[in-house]
Amino acid sequence: MNHPENSILIIFGASGDLTKRKLIPALYSLEVQNLLPNNFFVFGASRTELSDTEFRDNMADALNEFSKDEDLSKKDQFLKRLYYQSVQANDSSSYKPLINRLEKLENEKEMKSNLIFYLSTPPSLYDVIPDDLAKVKLNDESNGWKRLIIEKPFGYDYESAKKLNEKLSKNWNENQIYRIDHYLGKETVQNLLVTRFSNGIFEPLWNRNFVHHVEITSAEDIGVEKRGGYYDNSGALRDMVQNHLLQMVGLIAMEPPSSMDSNSIRNEIVKVFQSLSKFKDDDIAKNVIRGQYLESKIKGKKVKGYREEEGVDPNSKTETFAALKFYIENWRWGGVPFYIRTGKRLPTRVTEAVIHFKPTPHSLFSQENECDSCNQLIIRIQPDEGILLKFGMKLPGAGFNVKNVNMDFHYADLSVQRIPTAYERLLLDAMNGDSTLFARVDAVMNAWSFLNPVLEAWKNDHTIPVYGYPAGTWGPESADDLIEEKNMTWRYPCKNLAEDGIYCEL
Ligand code: BG6
Repeated sequence: MNHPENSILIIFGASGDLTKRKLIPALYSLEVQNLLPNNFFVFGASRTELSDTEFRDNMADALNEFSKDEDLSKKDQFLKRLYYQSVQANDSSSYKPLINRLEKLENEKEMKSNLIFYLSTPPSLYDVIPDDLAKVKLNDESNGWKRLIIEKPFGYDYESAKKLNEKLSKNWNENQIYRIDHYLGKETVQNLLVTRFSNGIFEPLWNRNFVHHVEITSAEDIGVEKRGGYYDNSGALRDMVQNHLLQMVGLIAMEPPSSMDSNSIRNEIVKVFQSLSKFKDDDIAKNVIRGQYLESKIKGKKVKGYREEEGVDPNSKTETFAALKFYIENWRWGGVPFYIRTGKRLPTRVTEAVIHFKPTPHSLFSQENECDSCNQLIIRIQPDEGILLKFGMKLPGAGFNVKNVNMDFHYADLSVQRIPTAYERLLLDAMNGDSTLFARVDAVMNAWSFLNPVLEAWKNDHTIPVYGYPAGTWGPESADDLIEEKNMTWRYPCKNLAEDGIYCEL
């Protein structure tokens, strides 16, 4: 693994939740693994006035609460890397103290001015801060590289994403911009590439001749929690489908890249996005189902409906569940339906992709459970990461009775090492200048262009229903009707990779 060059990370929005919950714990994990360069520093930057000491104290608390590392012995050493400087967005003169302190630190440590700016702010500042930075020449690479990490959501729809890109590209080159999609940082999402391209056995089957359909589920059991205000202006399609789920579709459906370099991989993902079938106004209601969770009882405990959540409009039509059926119109996948769904307040937290293989051309044996695609490869992204293959076996005894059995691999058995969090991997990659696991501009735009007709139809066509579903269930029943064929439904995954079924113990 490359060791990153000395650099300084400036986190805008440092008093927010992401810094505490994800960024600082991820950086600390890199410290524990000795992956940070000697001269690596972090500047928290927000409107709030804080001293370095106060910021360090806050981050020490954050580590106690959110760090996954049991080893806290390097905490003091780590905290010494942290500084804080208050900055006002949209006021480039307020950057002067930050610039002075950065220069002072760089001189003291005799390091180049390699700077990473992390925008963990409300999205309305995604074009403002990069513009401010350019005004004070903090995008100038003459004495060290300058990189910009931008959190999702990258735009609100096709037009706003286009405008944002246009603004950014005035002062920043595409190779300086790192658009975070934290799903790409997940080990098991990357393992999709390894499963497909390090094994000869899957490739011959990985196409329309053998695959019946592909199913991707990303379920959460939590509701919108304290993010009602943000979520009500976003919804499941923007929050999960446009980015995380489509990136997974890209990795499952892409052609083998010519090499593992960033552009080769990202070129193949973009080709998949360009081949996504276009939704037409009159088939949207049939192929895209939206739902909203309703008040219910889960394990005897009353749970609020979405419209009762804090920050949510009591008449809101924002979807907390979305399920889609679509096709990828290319030689590999022509005619193979892709079904994807995501939702909040579903029965469990699980993300998995299921490749359903076609049945045998003629059925010779009696199956214990009737199914038309009994051979399934289930790739579990989280939790209980692993891979499961389902196939038929003869039941011992007279006759030829077939039972569907599971061949089960758990990622945790592979190594004693803890699975690194997505942010550890992505922050390290950004320090190393490796953008493979970040979304490129054309991927983002193609993803929006695929979903834009749906967003438009939902906004303008009031006959398209928002189905209610009781919190703690698998979403609206109409989502089941997306999979129209006989004997076929979604997989209803349990916490345990090998179990499925609507009634499994959760
Ligand atoms: C975020 C969404 O991008 O992903 C959240 O904004 C969602 O709404 C989260 O809860 C899910 O991430 P993970 O890693 O818990 O699957």
